Amino acid sequence: MKGLPTSIETLREEAHRHLPRFVVDYLEGGAGQQRTLARNRAALDALALLPRTLRDVSHVDVTTRLLGFDMAAPVMVAPTGVAGMMRPGADGMLARAAARMGVPFILSAASNMPVEQVVSSGGTVWMQAYPLKDHHATQRLMRRAKDAGCVGVVLTVDSPVAGIRHWEARHFTPAGRPRLRTRIDALRHPAWLAAALRHGPPRFPNIAMELPDKSVQAERKAINEGKDPAFTFDGLARLRDAWPGPLIVKGVIDPEDVRQVASLGVDAVVLSNHGGRQLDGMVSTVEMLPACLHAAGSMPLLLDGGIRDGVDMAKVLALGAKAVLVGRVPLYGLAAAGEAGAVRAIELLLVEFRRVMGLLGRTDIIGLDRSSIASA
Ligand code: FNR
Repeated sequence: MKGLPTSIETLREEAHRHLPRFVVDYLEGGAGQQRTLARNRAALDALALLPRTLRDVSHVDVTTRLLGFDMAAPVMVAPTGVAGMMRPGADGMLARAAARMGVPFILSAASNMPVEQVVSSGGTVWMQAYPLKDHHATQRLMRRAKDAGCVGVVLTVDSPVAGIRHWEARHFTPAGRPRLRTRIDALRHPAWLAAALRHGPPRFPNIAMELPDKSVQAERKAINEGKDPAFTFDGLARLRDAWPGPLIVKGVIDPEDVRQVASLGVDAVVLSNHGGRQLDGMVSTVEMLPACLHAAGSMPLLLDGGIRDGVDMAKVLALGAKAVLVGRVPLYGLAAAGEAGAVRAIELLLVEFRRVMGLLGRTDIIGLDRSSIASA
């Protein structure tokens, strides 16, 4: 793909140029003082790779199979809500980009395109759901996703209440209206503004599908206030019974919780702190990986939070995760250059990962294990 940036970092810079400040903050921001956002990165940076040399790495195969699905590499595109704020039609673009690169895509419950339309992009699509106060609505969304052709459900459990996000108050009044400086900044990004005006405010056709009131306000309220803060392991057990398909639980981090989730017959867990966007000050996912692996037994563990390149991927997979999820990386590409940019971001990640594997002296995913990490 000529003319597109040759590094994820450059895509990120382009994304920042295209987007007004309030969208950049939404994309990049962590909760509170962003301690956990930084800790995710610090934990990854603290790990060092230990390559083997004098090995034949003329053929490196990074393909894998997870929960019955073939993948071009052990990476999935994480669910990211309101991506339509970055580019109208974002969910379809991300899904097509993932399909083109041969990796699964997880559609956010807070996405802006009907699941039926997204699934028609092809590829392996999972539906993310939140436990909702209206339990039937959660199940209806899951069934609707299945009927549409999603392969399974990812239930996000790290958001029983909203994270504390200070940047919101910097850009919006308590009533949710953009402040004057936010409006002025939007005017300074005419390409973004023109697209946003052409398409109107993002809608939420998946989470808000059966609301009697079809207004944008009612959809926003359902997104913000619909989640069930009283959802517990009992509810998860009931969902597991009601849902025959593959079920991944995302946002668990304590080994005891991992053990309990595994005992309910959940297919996999994503160790996640929502990219540092929920509980500020909490531990990084990488720090908890060894203890959680022990607790998970034979249930696969996936991990996200701070993965930015092929080196990060290799570190996490070497420690024992079966796959990583990437949230911001594909969004950098999407915001920088639409669908082609999203393809580019995933492509760069995969190409880098393959090179890192060769440099590590490893030729397949099975061969990438704890011995590729230097112990301190
Ligand atoms: C998210 N994340 C998220 N998770 C989820 O389960 N449902 C959602 O709707 C969203 N929305 C969302 C929006 C944006 C802009 C970001 C950056 C993240 C969390 C996401 O799935 C994932 O856990 C993190 O993004 C992983 O961290 P990195 O890869 O972004 O560092």
